Amino acid sequence: MNKLNHLAIIVDGNGRWAKSIGKIRSYGHLKGYENLKKIINYVNDNLDIKYISLFVFSTENFKRSKDEVDYLMNLFKKGFKEEKDVYIKKNMKVVFSYKKEGLSKDIISIIEEVESSTKDNTGLVVNFCLNYGGRSEIVDACKKIIDDKIDKNDITEDLFKDYLYNKLPDIDLMIRTSGEQRISNFMLWQISYAEFYFPKVYFPDFTPECLKEAINVYKTRDRRFGKIKK
Ligand code: IPE
Ligand code: MG
Repeated sequence: MNKLNHLAIIVDGNGRWAKSIGKIRSYGHLKGYENLKKIINYVNDNLDIKYISLFVFSTENFKRSKDEVDYLMNLFKKGFKEEKDVYIKKNMKVVFSYKKEGLSKDIISIIEEVESSTKDNTGLVVNFCLNYGGRSEIVDACKKIIDDKIDKNDITEDLFKDYLYNKLPDIDLMIRTSGEQRISNFMLWQISYAEFYFPKVYFPDFTPECLKEAINVYKTRDRRFGKIKK
């Protein structure tokens, strides 16, 4: 059975979920946010998983209406402020994979506050990808490598990995809710050997039971990493 060390979720379908019950998109985001809290706590309290990465806002999401972007940013601000003490109490280490450009000062300051107040925690590592793009992460790593004047011959995959936004292991299982079967620029480096799982449910309806089902499927997948099985 496959071990699950790093789980990743592309949170998707909040807007369609709201529409399906005749509500506005922001209501879907609120319910999605509440569900995300539930999933994080479920993983922390019940599962033997060391890392969880969550795609909550892509750099491209800034192309949405100002109202929707403002709503989401306020939700993040309020949410991280409220949850900070839970992360501390439960020994979770929270990191963010993000670009500062485009984010307001107050959201950057809450991000920094959450990161610094949980940096020494030793439990579940929660990686929020917020104003994140996978290609940008790789380009930014290249720039840092050049700034550090690393010799060409010393550039290896292992070294490169350490120049990404956070030091994270490869993703084992990547789930995208809502039936979409795309990566959408999410953690391109870390996803190389991930198993993919695409449940049809919209994220607000993605319960711990749905997650357990995904993990059961993952456990029985035949992971070969390029090798031939004897
Ligand atoms: C995911 O739900 C949440 C974010 C991207 C912030 P969507 O907002 O993408 O919902 P749909 O895909 O329009 O239903
Ligand atoms: Mg979407």
